[in-house]
Amino acid sequence: MRRNETIRAAVAETDFTLAQLVKPLFIQNQTKLKTEIKAMPGQYRFALKETLHEIEFSMKNNVKSFALFPVIPPAKKNAIGTHALEKNNLAAVAISKIKKEFPDCVLYADIALDPYTSHGHDGVLQNGKILNDESVGLLVQQALLMAEAGADFVAPSDMMDGRVGAIRSALDQNNFTETGILSYTAKYASNFYGPFRDALSSAPKTGNKKTYQMDYRNKNEALIEARLDYEEGADILMVKPALAYLDIIQLLKQNFSLPIAAFQVSGEYAMIKFAAKAGVINESQTILESVCAIKRAGADIIFTYFTNELIKLKV
Ligand code: PBG
Repeated sequence: MRRNETIRAAVAETDFTLAQLVKPLFIQNQTKLKTEIKAMPGQYRFALKETLHEIEFSMKNNVKSFALFPVIPPAKKNAIGTHALEKNNLAAVAISKIKKEFPDCVLYADIALDPYTSHGHDGVLQNGKILNDESVGLLVQQALLMAEAGADFVAPSDMMDGRVGAIRSALDQNNFTETGILSYTAKYASNFYGPFRDALSSAPKTGNKKTYQMDYRNKNEALIEARLDYEEGADILMVKPALAYLDIIQLLKQNFSLPIAAFQVSGEYAMIKFAAKAGVINESQTILESVCAIKRAGADIIFTYFTNELIKLKV
């Protein structure tokens, strides 16, 4: 059955389409059109104009979903991340411009305070502790702002307890009944986020994120998180990172009938890119293998920085 590629392709159990991919985009408010992210070769922080070009290219090639991550200058950061709630902030302006130009694209707006806080944590920090409920109050307002700007999905990546339910009822009360919630349900406190934090200059200045993100030694806990998010009204459940957490993806897929998303994160991207640059692996074949593995584990939707490579590989 493995004798030649025609037979192998006929009996292959897994495939994925470009429609199932989401392209993360780093956006910045600068005159420079794009600046490369050193820790992520081939990835850039884009000015708005260039972001629109990227989206146009992607849309033409059938990758039509995007997750936006704003780069906020230090002068606009403070202890409670108030810029996240300011009406015409970069994320809000970008979303409304993108949706105006490309009404058919799907935008996932990140809900978390870390790009906006001076300390780099996803919530409000007091005496070395993250205050859960105070943080949820701010995240709800951030979600409303993103919904108003035109986001198709708000995607809380902060891991505070109760935020999905709070966001859902605020959306309903404010007539955003068509805005979906993709919850970062099983988001682990991971070393694989390093290059992303580099891209946004958002690494925590003190401590780490282990009091709110999940412990990588845990699996049952992912079921608890998923049940809570399901009951609180999430539309999509996400596992993050992806490749080191295939068992978690499979677990959620088998236990929930909601769509499951997985995020192949910055460190996963960087490992493949740098290993390929060193000439020790075949880049395109490794990209295909890794994305296929995430799919095989049970992900319906995959966030990946490799969309441009996959556009070339999938034709
Ligand atoms: C923070 C956030 C992170 C990522 C997405 N949203 C980093 C973190 O939790 O510190 C990581 C994405 C990646 O590494 O590609 N809310």
